[in-house]
Amino acid sequence: MLFLLDSANIKELEKAQEIFPLAGVTTNPSIIAKENRNFFDILQDIRAVIGPDRMLHAQVLGETCEDILKDAETIRSRIGGELYIKVPVTIEGYRAMPILKQRGYKVTATAIYTPGQALLAAQWGVDFTAPYVNRIDNISGMGVTVVKMITDLFSIHHLSTRVLAASFKNLHQVNEISLAGCQAITVGPDILWKIAEHTLTDMSIHQFQSDWKSVYGDGKFVYNL
Ligand code: E4P
Repeated sequence: MLFLLDSANIKELEKAQEIFPLAGVTTNPSIIAKENRNFFDILQDIRAVIGPDRMLHAQVLGETCEDILKDAETIRSRIGGELYIKVPVTIEGYRAMPILKQRGYKVTATAIYTPGQALLAAQWGVDFTAPYVNRIDNISGMGVTVVKMITDLFSIHHLSTRVLAASFKNLHQVNEISLAGCQAITVGPDILWKIAEHTLTDMSIHQFQSDWKSVYGDGKFVYNL
């Protein structure tokens, strides 16, 4: 299962990329707006940090098929490398998906709340579908169940589209989703660090250090015994 970072903050990205095995970065208009600077500068900076081979998912803003296509073309002309155009599963978004695929784009169908939406997008041959786990949970839905249904549907119908689960607010959601069989998840920096760290790990290490130092002394490691 691939881990992506759901952030457009360059400092967070640099810090996370150094430590975690990130397969790429996802953005959406809200995440971009939070940075409050030029859209293309942000995407180019992300590309510079992650290099050409890691995935960068960037979302269109157009509300009609024509505008979606123009947005996609503009993004592709400015941002190189492994680029995925995120297209919401609106009626106009569904219209745009097969055209984008015919034109050679990699496409991520986004803002997915139901298995049916994912199935329709997958049949247009999109590369990823992005169901919104926490947002589904927030409307008394079952985010994990929806993701599991989507991954099962793709498998039953032999669809090559992958599932990129998005929208997480806690580790329970991440753990459950990891068992749901999706191929990728994207999480914000806060969740990523929470996955990695644990207070009891720190306490264990503290105890090891203290026991060691009581015998071998401060500043003594294996290499300078
Ligand atoms: C992916 O990029 C999605 O847009 C994102 O994960 C949504 O997350 P949120 O529900 O935390 O805003």
